[in-house]
Amino acid sequence: MQLKVNGQTREVDVEDDMPLLWVLRDELGVTGVKFGCGIAQCGACTVHIDGLAVRSCQVAAGSLDDGAEITTIEGLGTPDSLHAVQEAWIEHQVAQCGYCQSGQIMQAASLLDFNENPSDADIDAVMSGNLCRCGTYPRIRAAVKTAAAKLQET
Ligand code: FES
Ligand code: FES
Repeated sequence: MQLKVNGQTREVDVEDDMPLLWVLRDELGVTGVKFGCGIAQCGACTVHIDGLAVRSCQVAAGSLDDGAEITTIEGLGTPDSLHAVQEAWIEHQVAQCGYCQSGQIMQAASLLDFNENPSDADIDAVMSGNLCRCGTYPRIRAAVKTAAAKLQET
């Protein structure tokens, strides 16, 4: 099948039951997406499929539409033009160990796609589902608010 990964058309030939997470990491070398739990509990594997945040450990390759658009942290922005969420993450120095952070950023970008001015409760409701054992949630909340403001300026 063909997938459009971070804007590039990629051919993949895998078993239908291979999780998208492993298609990305092992077949395509896209390693910004992380394995945490493998059972949809942590959010480390969050990517966007056709613009929606999903847990790639739970998406079987065979369930994807041919030509599905997959965006990972590598494709959210570019080095010359970071996504507002990435800029805000840097400004607030959100990451600690960093392991959960690509998933956090992908989840936050999706949140802002659907809610351009989220309240603290809105942010907590969505982002608490992405586990961070370093406890960066206060900085995540602040960064999401900064990113929301940036997006409203553009
Ligand atoms: S690795 Fe997918 S939710 Fe934890
Ligand atoms: S920054 Fe370490 S787990 Fe989130």
